[in-house]
Amino acid sequence: MSRKNRGRRIFENITVVGAGAKGKAVAKTEDGKVIFLTNAVPGDVVDIQTHKKKRAYYEGKATVFHKLSDRRTEPACQHFGVCGGCKWQHMSYENQLYFKQKEVENNLKRLGGIEIPEMQPILASKEQYFYRNKMEFSFSDSRWLTEEEIKSEEDLGDRNALGFHIPGMWDKILDIKKCHLQADPSNAIRLSVKQYAVDNGLEFFNTRNQTGLLRTLMIRNSSIGEIMVLIQFFKEDKEKREALLDHISTEFPQITSLQYVINGKGNDTIYDQEVICYKGRDHIFEEMEDLRFKINAKSFYQTNSKQAYELYKVTRDFASLKGDELVYDLYTGTGTIAQFVAKKAKKVIGVEIVPDAIKAAKENAQLNGVENVDFFVGDMKKVFDKDFIETNGRPDLIITDPPRDGMHKEVVQQILNIAPKRIVYVSCNSATQARDLALMDEQYKVTKVQPVDMFPQTYHVENVVLLEKR
Ligand SMILES: C[S@@+](CC[C@H](N)C(=O)[O-])C[C@H]1O[C@@H](n2cnc3c(N)ncnc32)[C@H](O)[C@@H]1O
Repeated sequence: MSRKNRGRRIFENITVVGAGAKGKAVAKTEDGKVIFLTNAVPGDVVDIQTHKKKRAYYEGKATVFHKLSDRRTEPACQHFGVCGGCKWQHMSYENQLYFKQKEVENNLKRLGGIEIPEMQPILASKEQYFYRNKMEFSFSDSRWLTEEEIKSEEDLGDRNALGFHIPGMWDKILDIKKCHLQADPSNAIRLSVKQYAVDNGLEFFNTRNQTGLLRTLMIRNSSIGEIMVLIQFFKEDKEKREALLDHISTEFPQITSLQYVINGKGNDTIYDQEVICYKGRDHIFEEMEDLRFKINAKSFYQTNSKQAYELYKVTRDFASLKGDELVYDLYTGTGTIAQFVAKKAKKVIGVEIVPDAIKAAKENAQLNGVENVDFFVGDMKKVFDKDFIETNGRPDLIITDPPRDGMHKEVVQQILNIAPKRIVYVSCNSATQARDLALMDEQYKVTKVQPVDMFPQTYHVENVVLLEKR
């Protein structure tokens, strides 16, 4: 049943049937039109208020819950529903895995239109919470108020916030009391920094007016217990800066690397800023098997270290190297996959667009005594010219791990021209992966598919595919 309501529509007694599509739940109207919902779980029976209509679908929100799904579970976090971080906390982990697996399968089969073998069951993460090794929190002097707070008409007290952006709102920050994504002392550090700043009258940032002292707090840790803390200030105030950093280092003597940035720019990215080490080292170490990786404030490292290890093992397993192969590792980042498979190959060549990442890759390879790797800075689209292949050789295997947008079609074409026997395609977005696989379908057959869950409580899923020459 449906009725009109002020231009929007209400659909009543609808059973939610799916989940995926950027974390949204999926329902269908009586005439088969899809509705994407932000706040429901498959199996819920709900009334829906739509707020957007597109040609093929609606977007909406469940307003009345007639029946709650068996797939539900109690969210662990008090901020669930307001904070955009963990959109699937209300679904049991088993069901999160089920829908991730289904999403990958649908994308490869329907979007890609390719034939795939029976997929391996998704590799679950042993840690369902506190698995992230990097978190960035923002300071704001006008924290986001929940509907209840606004309605309560009580004194709203301290308006400062240290937490996360409200989804889709660049200037609204939710104050976080406890985040379930990074192991302690992450919460303790954030709460202590905030308390100190409030007690000592340090100004929190105001994004609209571009005023204040404190901008962001980044905390990184590693599986061997090292911790990096970085405070980003909007301007230099030596006395206040040193007092805050001293407070942090006294309260948390276990910090390996305490750093800061003074950034007076309009935006708060630190990638073009000078990072200054205040105490300890300017980096921390991560370890994987017998490899050590040096991570500085700007380094990319997979954010779930333990599952990154599982992902790399799948990649190495799919690569099934014998020791005499030349391997290309495209989009190599800091060269972690390249170094991880190097022992089993004759040589590995890594290519990446960020010069600092390649610098780190070279340093790490040296540190690890891995000599059969070479790294190059470049845009993938431009790298594979005749000279590059002539100089470095034609690879037997290509490993590719592109960003969310997948590979540029010219890169796909270049891979097809090179025509290696096997390709291992690691992807954090199976929709763009499916598109790329479709372009390779004539020459390559998908022979293995292994989804890996790197990000429990979110809809994100990593997928590794082995392609073999037809
Ligand atoms: C998903 S990450 C892969 C990182 C690495 N394989 C790892 O596991 O740590 C994708 C990488 O592609 C790089 N990248 C993005 N666009 C690129 C391009 N056009 N050419 C080369 N590298 C690019 C990014 O800087 C990033 O390091």
